[in-house]
Amino acid sequence: MWDALWLDTRIATMVEGAGPYGLIEQGALATREGRIAWVGEAKDLPGNPERQAREVHRLNGRCITPGLIDCHTHLVHGGDRAREFEMRLEGASYEELSRAGGGILSTVRATREADGPTLYAGAATRLKALMAEGVTTVEIKSGYGLDRENEMKQLRVARKLGADFRVSVTTSFLGAHALPPEFSDDADRYIDSIVRVQLPAVAEAGLADAVDAFCETIAFTPAQIERVFKAARALGLPVKLHADQLSDLGGAELAARYGALSADHLEYTSEAGAAAMAKAGTVATLLPGAFYCLRETKSPPVDAFRRHGVAMALATDCNPGSSPVTSILLMLSMACTFFRLTPEEALAGVTRNAARALGLADDRGTLEAGKRADFCVWNIEAPAELSYRIGSNTLGHCIRKGRRR
Ligand code: NIG
Ligand code: FE
Repeated sequence: MWDALWLDTRIATMVEGAGPYGLIEQGALATREGRIAWVGEAKDLPGNPERQAREVHRLNGRCITPGLIDCHTHLVHGGDRAREFEMRLEGASYEELSRAGGGILSTVRATREADGPTLYAGAATRLKALMAEGVTTVEIKSGYGLDRENEMKQLRVARKLGADFRVSVTTSFLGAHALPPEFSDDADRYIDSIVRVQLPAVAEAGLADAVDAFCETIAFTPAQIERVFKAARALGLPVKLHADQLSDLGGAELAARYGALSADHLEYTSEAGAAAMAKAGTVATLLPGAFYCLRETKSPPVDAFRRHGVAMALATDCNPGSSPVTSILLMLSMACTFFRLTPEEALAGVTRNAARALGLADDRGTLEAGKRADFCVWNIEAPAELSYRIGSNTLGHCIRKGRRR
């Protein structure tokens, strides 16, 4: 006996190689104990639906997709950067603001000043906005504390959000995000403190599921990041990288060399970088919100990713500086319009490939028997509508671990 069965629905399973969207036109999906027990054509159901499940839901042809996964956010942070937004509109660049001690460091000041409950309250508001559009799994980075105590404060808030809300939270330790002022220009000494002090404490407390870093002229060099990645590897933690966002420092190649789960941003990634990522199975996470807010004009090399077979994920990059975005659906639209992703690629970017970018592909990201029963019921008839519409939230409701949220 199944716990519940959904009928009269078009199911975008997002299973790779199963045709566009892995679509099942007259679909049926059954759950048991929080997992998908059966999914397929309704006509192939093994018996009378009403006798097979405790509850039967008929959806009138509405679409089901996997629960959406936002695989790159900086949701937990203090303050905002609305004033910097104004300054950028008056002509200052993101890099100039950063070099003048603004940018990431202004959020570091606000995050250090804020206590846990204050950080929690701000992040909870943003998290609810993501959940309202069908997000069932979200990654949250640290990176605005930049010392042991404050990085751990951020990560604890992220873990608490995952415990309190009906959403799965994965965390990434991003100590190598910017150089904090107390290390006055001695980046190598700061890297020492990451590998000797911050990372061991974070790992010991079980606060990080992955380790991330920012490879850029305004952040850290590939050599400095290698030290962080080696330390992560020694602790058995997978790595990710903010790579090639403003210039090509070989970030994609660096991420690939360390078997990174994902390399993110990638506007300036070269063909060789794309090839290296393909070989390593590193996912390309595209962040159209940051592209848009920074008025970037160079698009990530989507054609090269396709040719080499690099899986592409999409995320909000929700952060107070480069991407104050809390709409995952808007990212689908932007990815199609700015980067020329197909609506199917865009949806794969927030489901199947986002799961891969978090190392969760065995458990989530597609609708297949055995995977977690996280899915969305949409008030739409065709999955392309998720990318096509702008500013309309067509979510009907969301099922997480088999239960309506
Ligand atoms: O993903 N690129 C670096 N880090 C963030 C921006 C952080 C910030 O500006 O506060 C990003 O865009
Ligand atoms: Fe980011």
